[in-house]
Formats: sequence, C-alpha cells, structure tokens
Amino acid sequence: MAQTTSQPEIGVIGGSGFYSFLDDIEEVRPDTPYGPPSDAIAIGEIAGRRVAFIPRHGRDHRHPPHRIPYRANLWALRALGVRQIVAPSAVGSLTPDYGAGTLAVPDQLVDRTQSRVQTFYDEGAAVHLSFADPYCPTGRQTALAAARTAQWAPVDGGTLVVIEGPRFSTRAESRWYAAQGWTLIGMTGHPEAVLARELALCYTPLCLVTDLDAGIEEGEGVTMEEVFRVFGENIDRLRPLVAEVIKSLPQNRPCPCPHSLDGIKLPIPLP
Ligand code: ADE
Repeated sequence: MAQTTSQPEIGVIGGSGFYSFLDDIEEVRPDTPYGPPSDAIAIGEIAGRRVAFIPRHGRDHRHPPHRIPYRANLWALRALGVRQIVAPSAVGSLTPDYGAGTLAVPDQLVDRTQSRVQTFYDEGAAVHLSFADPYCPTGRQTALAAARTAQWAPVDGGTLVVIEGPRFSTRAESRWYAAQGWTLIGMTGHPEAVLARELALCYTPLCLVTDLDAGIEEGEGVTMEEVFRVFGENIDRLRPLVAEVIKSLPQNRPCPCPHSLDGIKLPIPLP
C-alpha cells in the first residue's frame, strides 16, 4: 500500500460527472487485497483538512455501477487514514415533488442490487453488523446545514433504492418503488455505505437529483445524456458544497460510527 506523507482524514467519492475535486494534489495508486481502486486517489487540502478524492467510476467513467471496485475503494481510503466519507452521486427522483437539481440527504436505503459482493467479512468468522441507520447522523446534519447555508434547500431524509443497473428501470419497476414510499433511485449507493460501516467509517450521501424516474416522468424515460447534462449543470454548486461539508465535519466524530466494530472479533485485520 503506497503511503503519503500526511494522512487524509476525509474521503470524497465522486459520482457520474464528478471526476476531479482538489487542487495541488499528490496522487497515489494504492493496491489492496481487493485489487486496485477505481482510479488514482488524489490527496489535497481543504480548509486545513487533508482530503482524499476518488472518482467512483474512474476519471473516464470506465467502471459501470455493477463493476465498480467498491471494496478496493473503501479499503484504500481507510488504509490511507480516511475515517469520514462524503459521497456525492447522481440519482433519479421517485416523486414529482423532487425535480431535477434537488439536493437530498437520504436517511435510509433499500438494496435491490443482485451481483455485488457486499462484505469484507466473507471468510473466517461471520460478522453481522447493525445497519438499521445506514448513514452517519453527524455527517447528515453537517451536510444539511451546509446546503441550507448555500441556499440549496435540501431534502432531509427519504429512502434511496439502489438498483443493479446498468440499465434504468422500467415504468412498472419505477412505479412499484415509488409505491413503497421510496423517494430516490440510484445505482451506486450500495454496497458503498455498508462497506464503509464494515470499516467503522462515517458515510454521508449527497444525492443530486438529475431526473424523474420512468414511473413518474411523462416523456420517453430517463436517458444517460439527461443524467450527465443535469449533473453538469449543477457541478459548480456541488463542488463548493462538498468543500463546505468537509470544513464543517467535526474532527472528533461524536457519532456511533467509530464504534461499529466494538466487541466484534474480526476475521481480518483492518487496514
Ligand atoms: N442515476 C441517476 N438517475 C437515475 C435513475 N433514474 N435511476 C437509476 N440511477 C440513476
């Protein structure tokens, strides 16, 4: 594992259209027991906080959602020193109340993926972690406060359903998800959040709505072009927001996340 001179404490995992973030970076290309991460990891500074940035899909968007090396990404970030993760992503909306450009910080997720390894603990002793509340409560409040300060009235809470992709949903699937009361839909929020929990990291999603999903929109259905266009229209707001969240995250982590593994005998040593 490559080491950098000063350890980053906060990690940002950028989604579709969010391929760079920091200035004056040092780049590292760590290897992990799960192979290499999505791309080189950029390490830099924001307001005196050391930050590591990784583009989830790779800088050239070469990893589709079901092939992202989620375990390598999380492992590499933790091995570098990261303990808190901010995770911006493009999502669809399952309610007409949240139009394109809405910023949401969900408090629940539903896993509808099918083919992804979602644990580090798949050999040796079984490990069953609590995941009732999948996101860091302090990170969520920090993100909401930062969004309000930026005049970006955020949606506080809601359920993100994570589908396998890479295709978008049929209208029937989309209506079914909406009928469950789920509000947002994406392809990458799982297993990222649970792998973060398995490493006792804080994980805070920042969901940017790029489209109304197929069940509620009236036109042809979601397109990739639409997702990238709307994300691109909002990236100049999103980058400073992520920076503001980083500035405001408390260093001492007063949340339950650092204690996720307390009392559990782990079958593998943490990095
Ligand atoms: N990412 C952005 N929009 C999406 C949608 N409608 N469904 C799944 N993932 C998405």
